[in-house]
Amino acid sequence: MSMHSSGELSLLQSLGQLSAPELRRLLAEHLTRQKLGLYWERNAIEHDQALNANVVLPRLVADWSYTPEGCTEHRNLIIEGDNFDSLRLLRATHAGKVRVIYIDPPYNTGNKDWVYNDSYVGANDRWRHSQWLEFLYQRLTLARDLLTADGVILVSINDENRARLELLMDEVFPGRRLGSLVWRTKDTGNDLTQRFSHVHEHVLVYANSGFAFNGRATDRSKFRNPDEDPRGDWSPQPLTKAHSYIDRENTYYPIQDPSTGYWYPCDPNRVWAYASEAVIRRLCKGDEMAAQTALAALRSDSMEALIAKKLIYFPPCKPEEVMHFATKAELLAALKAGKGPVLPKKKTPLLRVDLPDLDFWVGKPIAPGRPSRKEHWTAKPEAERLAPVSSWIAGMNENSEDDDVESVLLRSARGGVATEEVKNVLGSKAFPYPKPLSLIKGLLSQATRPGDTVLDFFAGSGTTGQAVLELNAEDGGQRRFILCSSTEATAKEPYKNLCRDVCAERLRRVSQGYAGKPGYTPAQGGEFAYLQLDKLDWADVALDATADHAALMLALRHAAAVPAALNSTPVRPVAKGADWLMVLCPTMDDQALRALCELPAQYAINRLVVYAPRPKTLSAWLAERGVEAQVHPLREALTPGQGGRS
Ligand SMILES: C[S@@+](CC[C@H](N)C(=O)[O-])C[C@H]1O[C@@H](n2cnc3c(N)ncnc32)[C@H](O)[C@@H]1O
Repeated sequence: MSMHSSGELSLLQSLGQLSAPELRRLLAEHLTRQKLGLYWERNAIEHDQALNANVVLPRLVADWSYTPEGCTEHRNLIIEGDNFDSLRLLRATHAGKVRVIYIDPPYNTGNKDWVYNDSYVGANDRWRHSQWLEFLYQRLTLARDLLTADGVILVSINDENRARLELLMDEVFPGRRLGSLVWRTKDTGNDLTQRFSHVHEHVLVYANSGFAFNGRATDRSKFRNPDEDPRGDWSPQPLTKAHSYIDRENTYYPIQDPSTGYWYPCDPNRVWAYASEAVIRRLCKGDEMAAQTALAALRSDSMEALIAKKLIYFPPCKPEEVMHFATKAELLAALKAGKGPVLPKKKTPLLRVDLPDLDFWVGKPIAPGRPSRKEHWTAKPEAERLAPVSSWIAGMNENSEDDDVESVLLRSARGGVATEEVKNVLGSKAFPYPKPLSLIKGLLSQATRPGDTVLDFFAGSGTTGQAVLELNAEDGGQRRFILCSSTEATAKEPYKNLCRDVCAERLRRVSQGYAGKPGYTPAQGGEFAYLQLDKLDWADVALDATADHAALMLALRHAAAVPAALNSTPVRPVAKGADWLMVLCPTMDDQALRALCELPAQYAINRLVVYAPRPKTLSAWLAERGVEAQVHPLREALTPGQGGRS
């Protein structure tokens, strides 16, 4: 393994012959080069095959595809092979078409859980971290080109490698970081001999500018009108902020309901969320100019303005519940006896002997309830009411009844559940460390829309595929999945085929229905094409690429679906538009030419797009017969988008 690229090597070898000014220039260049970001030993490790070293072409394996009765084409794909090649293929067929990518790559644990250039990378490998970064860099840069303008990539990673991966993601997706979610993976910790209990993982989120999480549609039933507000239904919003009276003394003040005259103490642990005009004026000590300036600088209405606009709701109470303390001594005695005003649910005291301005409360009627801010149903468009995803993934039974949690909580089972989920489908412990369905479903329910294409290029046991099927069944969506998986075959286990026997088999059983669960119809996504990859040298494409290769490439690129069975008719329709039909015409014999002429009437279209071996001749021949056609060379079906050579 060489430490340096060939350019650097020749420079190093020639250092002795360089002049002093040359050396000075090089040193200055070296010292001033910008260094912010992630560096890994790219030159010290053997690179993956060059991007355009050869041409990757798909081959349909009908026997391993899932084609139930009535299924004529496949919208879902399972692609077997090193994902570097799968991604190269997808870049040629699906550039800018994938809305959501979820991946759960090998975590670089040193447990020989991933292969680089056909050999496992173990814990003691000198270049372990660099090889892992380079491995992911190569794949992420290819994947980046697949995303739609509003696309997003979500990446699972453990705590140990999060920082490294995040810097790498920053490099590949500059300025696209949205944030990260934290997922609690297990309930039990390790014993003390482990020194640290790792019970959480991360999901990094990077998105193109048009992306937004779905959030949550506002629950209309939470909007009511108990006080017959003429503006219509409203929902109560918290009027307080999580700051103590010591941190925010200016927003710690009593408020009064003008219609009843009752007073409401501020919670000393959560002050009001709005400033008070009265407090501002008091602080400005009669300087009206200063008061006006401070009021104009407020970013929202003052509490007095909200009350005047009747946007504060004071809950009704019975007169006998209202407290009165005629003297300070009476007040202090009540507070000491725990009989002062308290928060309705938590019962924590609102007034305490150590709090300032207790004199204010002597002789005032103190109401028991808590005021809230009204948000009217019509006040905001629905889109603005949608809340973003919060930064952590809660457990299935975790309580989220906290006032502060306005955003959507994703929920996921712990990691161990996932092993059972795969076992339930495949009958044995077929896969180590899959992700729980609820985790991926939760992420996809927030990140996808019903028509989206979802890609997982570290598919493993295929959890992402099952999550897509379940989501579609729940909301009637038409999401489709593309799963890429390696075989994990090694010299020791040359016949191992994880992609076929675990990933595809799981999706087949889930689609058919298992353990009493109903399956999925082809219309619901219960089908998939199983593709293997052929790699051809550029020079051999003309000779070795087959008509099936060309038909599949065209179908993937233009129809986003592949035929369930490839036929060998002289002309093969591959995609259809409103007034055009795309056909592959691999050989130009009489039968093929006759069939071409019949197509416009047969398919009720005006124009043909034909891929054929001798485009100029065919174009002239069709024109003579009055058939409007655009004829491309056969090679254009195979090579566009493959590396930089096409
Ligand atoms: C952590 S697992 C993913 C598990 C998956 N999320 C699930 O729920 O089953 C990572 C997977 O990536 C696969 N893998 C590793 N290197 C790969 C490569 N170069 N191409 C394709 N798959 C690869 C491994 O075989 C493994 O199955």
